[in-house]
Amino acid sequence: MTDDSDFEFILDDGPIVTWRELLAETAAVLGDRNHARWMCEVASGCDGVEFVAELDEPVATAMVVHLDAMIARRQTGEPLQYVLGRWQFRRLDLMIDQRVLIPRPETEWVCEAALHLAQSMLADAPSPPLQIVDLGTGSGAIGLSLAAELPLGSATVWLSDISPDALAVASANLAGIGRGAQHVRVTLGPWFDALPAHLRGTLDLVVANPPYIAENDPDIDDEVAQWEPHGALFAGDDGLADIRIIAADAVHWLRPGGALVLEIGADQGAGVSEVLHGVGLAGIEIRPDLAGRDRIAIAHR
Ligand SMILES: C[S@@+](CC[C@H](N)C(=O)[O-])C[C@H]1O[C@@H](n2cnc3c(N)ncnc32)[C@H](O)[C@@H]1O
Repeated sequence: MTDDSDFEFILDDGPIVTWRELLAETAAVLGDRNHARWMCEVASGCDGVEFVAELDEPVATAMVVHLDAMIARRQTGEPLQYVLGRWQFRRLDLMIDQRVLIPRPETEWVCEAALHLAQSMLADAPSPPLQIVDLGTGSGAIGLSLAAELPLGSATVWLSDISPDALAVASANLAGIGRGAQHVRVTLGPWFDALPAHLRGTLDLVVANPPYIAENDPDIDDEVAQWEPHGALFAGDDGLADIRIIAADAVHWLRPGGALVLEIGADQGAGVSEVLHGVGLAGIEIRPDLAGRDRIAIAHR
């Protein structure tokens, strides 16, 4: 049972298998022990030490069926994160599927930058709640992390997206963040138009990981282009179409001194700076990641 063409673990009247056996065989089929471990954990419904405690227990048929189905999906090229149906983002274990972008590690740094700005706003003028918006929230990764990590009641966090499908996923994840959920609002629509008019000119912090890939980018990864939602990826000929819209409107929706935090493409620092200057935002900063690639743009009204 170690080659790709023969991965099914269910044998009619076959021998009882344990998780230890299934883990070894799944690792051989996938060629990756970590991926195998995560799939077995999802199929077993146990994580970490609980899974280790189950290793030599017989596996229920329904769990074997679930594992087989996940392996079959992975072998069609479906990204591991969609196959697992969940992915870790900062402190959150997010439910995800093909309705939303897979949350990326670089976006955790965008969230970190937004979190620090919110914390310093609270320290400078502790008159909560802050009004924070996560535009294009997708799975809810950024906004829900802010709601979960900021002190309870210190901010109202608005999650918006143009995709009702994405908001369904974000709403499911909202249920998983605990008490912070009572300070989160979910709203449908294009960028700032999704927000109630009374928030205009009052927002403390706007954070977004908008689509920023150029339509004909030859370097886009095949797996990304084939499986992830196109509406989450592409933004016109130069990848800046959505950033231009967000920047132009941020000037009207932020309060004086409020901040905009954007995830940007690796070679977009100069272009995004120009857009942000052009709309009259100030204090513009482009932050590179550890590899020196442009990643985060910050600007203030
Ligand atoms: C790159 S994904 C980011 C998802 C999530 N924030 C994250 O970081 O994982 C961009 C998101 O923007 C949403 N989006 C695209 N165009 C939009 C628009 N015109 N107005 C609002 N949201 C939009 C997409 O549906 C998608 O969920």
